[in-house]
Order: sequence, then structure tokens, then C-alpha cells
Amino acid sequence: MQQLNENTVVEAVLAQMASTPNPRFREIMNAAVRHLHAFAREVNLTPEEWLEGIRFFTEVGQKCTPYRQEFILLSDTLGLSSLVGLMSDARTPGMHTDASLLGPFYRMNSPEFKLGDSIVKEIRGTEVVMYGQVTDSNGKGIPGASVQVWQTDKEGDYDLQKPNAATDMDLRGTLHADAEGRYYFRTEVPAGYSIPMDGPVGEMIRAQKRHGFRPSHFHFLIGAPGYREVVTALYIHNDPHIDSDTVFGVTDSLIVRVNESDPASPLPHLPSIKYDFQLAAAGKGEGSGRVGADPSQITKKPTETAPSLT
Ligand code: BEZ
Ligand code: FE
Repeated sequence: MQQLNENTVVEAVLAQMASTPNPRFREIMNAAVRHLHAFAREVNLTPEEWLEGIRFFTEVGQKCTPYRQEFILLSDTLGLSSLVGLMSDARTPGMHTDASLLGPFYRMNSPEFKLGDSIVKEIRGTEVVMYGQVTDSNGKGIPGASVQVWQTDKEGDYDLQKPNAATDMDLRGTLHADAEGRYYFRTEVPAGYSIPMDGPVGEMIRAQKRHGFRPSHFHFLIGAPGYREVVTALYIHNDPHIDSDTVFGVTDSLIVRVNESDPASPLPHLPSIKYDFQLAAAGKGEGSGRVGADPSQITKKPTETAPSLT
């Protein structure tokens, strides 16, 4: 029999898990167990506190639906999504646009639009044209690159937060760049917003006296065959929370300004935002750079989505 104490129990767990056939799964679980045990020892975790933790994670799971992903929100507010995205970026050779969070409001199969269309059913805020070019690492335009965009309205709400979320998509769309990789579309300036605060993650944020806001931004998912897709967002420079994003998505290269008068814009009578996106060539066997997914895909059974680690 083995003598268990607070320092040896971790070894017993690692020994039992050593039979795991998948080497990557074994590596991840080994590290997770070692760090979890070290964490519990460092804070001298009590049974009551761990039960409180279990209550919290249970509520996080119960809050998840095909339209709401509380686990992504938790990962985002702890900076883990940002870290995983930054590490994935750093592994990618070649010049490319910096990544930013996918967030919990991405939806697959958003409506297709032609260049110059508006992605908003009814413009109620300040209309703006977004334009630029999608290029490769050498600055050469990528013909037909797909540009998915999604954003809040002028009140800071996504379509997924509105009553008809199941059927109505708005303030989001998919466009295809022209033969030179150029894209442009019309939209309205989004408002910054509070992350969803009506669940356990909101409870945590309030207990930490954090403000819970994200600065105003547009999300983008840009891709083309043979290139690594870029998941990113563009942040409007004068938002009051530009330096204190609750989910750590803002970096200097992704900050943009609304230009009131830009003769180079394809629609010069409108205020505009110009941004060029750069995609690196796809590496062999490289996984997706997305930290997150359409919430409806996460609630599906694992066999219907990602490959299993077992
Ligand atoms: C978002 O930008 O959509 C978002 C990201 C993380 C948490 C909440 C919202
Ligand atoms: Fe967002």
C-alpha cells in the first residue's frame, strides 16, 4: 500500500494515468493534474471552498445553450482564450494580422452579401463603410478571400441577444473579396458593451469589482484556401474601455479610427474605416486558430464535432 499525503497523491494519480495511449492527451492531463494539485496546495483549498468551486462550474455548464456559451465566457474573462490565441499566432510563420477573440457570439452560415452591401437590416446608428484588402504575407491580394464579420448594434447588442435569436441573423454577414483581394461593406458603428452578466461569470466579475465592459469592436474571420484563417477584431480607438477590455482582446495593431472624409474610400460620401488583413500560408497539419466556436456546435455530441483525444 502507498502512504498518501498532500505531496504524494499527485504521483499516485499520474501513475494511474500513465496507461493513457494517446500521447498528447496524456501530456495535457498530466500537466493539468500537476498544476491543479499545486494550485490547491498553494491556496490551502478547504472542502467548503472546493464545493463552492464545483457549484460555480456546475452553474457555468447549466447556463450553456446552443445560443449561449458560458464556458467560453469564463475562458475569455480569465485571459485563457487570449493566451491560447496568442500562442497559436506565435507558432505561425510569416506575416499575418494579429488574432483576437472569437467570443461567444460567432455564428456559422451568416448571410452572404455582395461587396458594397449593408450587413445591417435597419441602420439606426452612424453608418460607416469598412474597406481594405486581404493579402498574403508578401502583400499580394488574395482573390475571393472570404470575410465573415459580426458586431453589435448601436446599443451594444448582438442578434443572438435579441428575442428572435433562433431565426433572425443581423449585423453579421459573409462577403468575398474581389480579384485583387479588396473588400468593402456598409454597416453601423457598434457600441461597446457589457459581457453577459446574468450568469455565474457575471457573478465572478462583480465579486472582483471589474467593470465587465468590452470596447466597441467588429469581429472578423478571414480565410482562403491555402491560407491560415485569421480570427480577429478591430477596436475603435476612442472607446472609454479601450485600455481595460474585460476579455483581453485589444492590441495596438487592431485599433482603428473612423475617418470622416476619405477620398480613397469606395463610398467617399460615408465615414469609413480602412483595414488591410494579412493571411499567412497554411502549415501542414495545422489546426484551426479559432479559440471558440458557434455555440450551437459546442452543445452537439463530440463525435459530431472535433476529433476525439481518446
Ligand atoms: C465578444 O466580443 O463578442 C465577446 C468576447 C468575449 C466575451 C464576451 C463577448
Ligand atoms: Fe464582440
